[in-house]
Amino acid sequence: MAQARTVYVCQSCGAGHAKWAGRCDACGAWNSLVEEKAIASRGSRSGGAKRVGGHGVTFVPLEGEQKRAARYTTGIGEFDRVTGGGLVPGSAILVGGDPGIGKSTLLLQAAAGLAARVQTAYISGEEAIDQVRMRAERLGLAKAGVQLATATSVADIVASLDATDRPDVAIIDSIQTMSVEGLESAPGTVAQVRASAHELTTLAKRRGFAVILVGHVTKEGMIAGPRVLEHMVDAVLYFEGESSQQFRILRAVKNRFGATNEIGVFEMTGSGLAEVTNPSSLFLSERAANASGTAVFAGLEGSRPLLVEFQALVSPSALPQPRRTVVGWDSGRLAMILAVLEARCGVSLSGHDVYLNVAGGLRITEPAADLAVAAALVSAASGESVPPETVIFGEIALSGEVRAVAQTESRLREAAKLGFTKALAAHPGREGGSSPAGMTVERIAHLRDLVGRFPIRRRRSPQAAGVERVRHG
Ligand code: TYD
Ligand code: MG
Repeated sequence: MAQARTVYVCQSCGAGHAKWAGRCDACGAWNSLVEEKAIASRGSRSGGAKRVGGHGVTFVPLEGEQKRAARYTTGIGEFDRVTGGGLVPGSAILVGGDPGIGKSTLLLQAAAGLAARVQTAYISGEEAIDQVRMRAERLGLAKAGVQLATATSVADIVASLDATDRPDVAIIDSIQTMSVEGLESAPGTVAQVRASAHELTTLAKRRGFAVILVGHVTKEGMIAGPRVLEHMVDAVLYFEGESSQQFRILRAVKNRFGATNEIGVFEMTGSGLAEVTNPSSLFLSERAANASGTAVFAGLEGSRPLLVEFQALVSPSALPQPRRTVVGWDSGRLAMILAVLEARCGVSLSGHDVYLNVAGGLRITEPAADLAVAAALVSAASGESVPPETVIFGEIALSGEVRAVAQTESRLREAAKLGFTKALAAHPGREGGSSPAGMTVERIAHLRDLVGRFPIRRRRSPQAAGVERVRHG
């Protein structure tokens, strides 16, 4: 048996260090190093250091018969779309999210759906059988043909899943509770999470069943050992949302068998998660028409158009460094838009606190939202509301020019479907532009054209002012 060696492993990126340090050299995370005994035992399949002579690999031509097995669907449309049309046999999927967000609920519902079609096992390492049964009853799924077990030993689970009557889908809730024998680290540490995931995913590949691993995200927004896990699995789905809000989003951030950035929208109800098939109307449901400081963005999440409202508040600041608070969008991007407004359009908000919020708690990452954010800001600063029934989209360049964004047409179609009649948008670029019936599209070439629609005080000839300042100073 090899000598046990102490290493300090970063719980965020998995890098090993010989000595403890306050900060991980590899990823820059603070206070993330944890003492772990390096893999020591001979028995551990995942970490065995012993090398034996190999048998050689078999090479085959690129062209050949492909086994295209049918995918396992859950019957929950929002879930199946995010997985790219169902689970692929032999694949591994990681479902991450904050504790309490609803992962176990989602996966129990998915398990029940799967069980109607294929053999499905739900293995809980966190809850007792009774607890899971109670939840199933509450969800109205007590009669679903799910095979239930509680276990935390990977060796035990592997023994059952390696059998001939193995299930087609195994759900492991959660990977942080699993442990591999022969490793001295506690469950939940990078070494354990990595070794457990490795055993389970390789077995899934070898035996051809699909495995879903549930992972908790730490406060810093990372699954313990996220990078190690993310490249070990075929798909990574994040289940997110504000716990104060009813709706939840399942987002594919990696998918070898489908599109990434695809989202599924759910609502947490008293009897589990309900699908939201028309999310735009949900995110706009509490909108007060004609309020200043709001703008509706015609966005795109994966393959699906989605309308959301940006809300901005601009108020004079007494602070030497005015406040910038952003919820649901990138704060660096907000700083950029404020800078472009100032430098290219002469609109200065530097003496103001600025708050920006995406209604409903959704997180938007598309640069196409720039123009809608700018509109919300200018509207808030001027007190004049954006024209009614108007959606806005376009990416803003540092020059202030508004760039074309992808899929103009499907954005406009979604907006028309929800009763919007006008759009302020970038030129459609190469796509060319046909707009749906009843929709007037006004093209915005430069941010100035947008700002000019609001009664806001502007410095004259902003670019020249910058040059002047240099000359005198
Ligand atoms: P859970 O699935 O246990 O979260 P996770 O596995 O991600 O830790 O979800 C727990 C929360 O969901 C809990 O706060 C209660 C809520 N919930 C409902 O609102 N309705 C329901 O039908 C169920 C089962 C849970
Ligand atoms: Mg849970």
